[in-house]
Amino acid sequence: MAAIVIDGKAAAARVRAEVAEGVAAFAARYGRAPGLVGIQVGDDPASELYQAGKARAAEEAGMVPRRITLPDSTGQAELDALIDELNADDAVDGMLVQLPVPDQLSEPLIANRIHPDKDVDGFSPVNLGRLMRGEPGNVPCTPQGVMRMLRDAEVPLVGAHAVVVGRSLIVGKPQSMLLLAEHCTVTVAHSRTRDLPSLCRTADILVAAVGRPEMIRGDWVKPGAAVMDVGINRTDDGLRGDVAYAECAEVAGWITPVPGGVGPMTIAYLLANTLDAAHRRAGATT
Ligand code: GUN
Repeated sequence: MAAIVIDGKAAAARVRAEVAEGVAAFAARYGRAPGLVGIQVGDDPASELYQAGKARAAEEAGMVPRRITLPDSTGQAELDALIDELNADDAVDGMLVQLPVPDQLSEPLIANRIHPDKDVDGFSPVNLGRLMRGEPGNVPCTPQGVMRMLRDAEVPLVGAHAVVVGRSLIVGKPQSMLLLAEHCTVTVAHSRTRDLPSLCRTADILVAAVGRPEMIRGDWVKPGAAVMDVGINRTDDGLRGDVAYAECAEVAGWITPVPGGVGPMTIAYLLANTLDAAHRRAGATT
């Protein structure tokens, strides 16, 4: 039987509609809309697209977006000064620095500099620590999107074996924590995992977040499994996920396409995080 295709565009539209309602209520109560600032260093075309998409989505949800683009040569001290200014700006509820950043900048210094309450990417040590502790905080957007898709599709989670392929700070690590919190048995696999195909075949839920086009083959998938493809790889043949879609769709119970799968959920949850951050800040000052 062919897999159920989980439509990420539709799921993201639902999340964005929920956020837009929440933004309207927030604005009615506090007399201002949540503010989201996206910082980009340099002119990488992919970053440009992501930043534009995030700002457009924030505006559509009724938020106040602001885009700041700094020259490629920007130093850490200059970026730190900007972050400090935005940390102190009451109109700013969330900010993010688009990754990757040029070599002279340090991603850990950036993650440590952004105030945890405004860190809507959820990459700061404080927010990642909260996630590990199970405390409320800003949770990375893409893994939240994957969880929402699993929940909406009613994929059984309790006791399921989830294999997360990829151990990045942005997806793999936080994804494993979220699956664990839902009572999955979680295995985190990576480039040095032995016999990855056999391991993947034991997964009830397989999350692919490695950045290698079509690495997950049809015969790596357990019949009926949920295959969640986080990969966005630009190839000569166009945009490809980490999953060989056609092959895997024949075996899986559920599958997310690329494009139109997990991708749109990332921006949706950035908006959700920004609204939550605005509420937390407003609640703290009233
Ligand atoms: N680059 C790729 N994904 C992300 C993301 O989720 N946030 C930021 N800031 N940069 C990214």
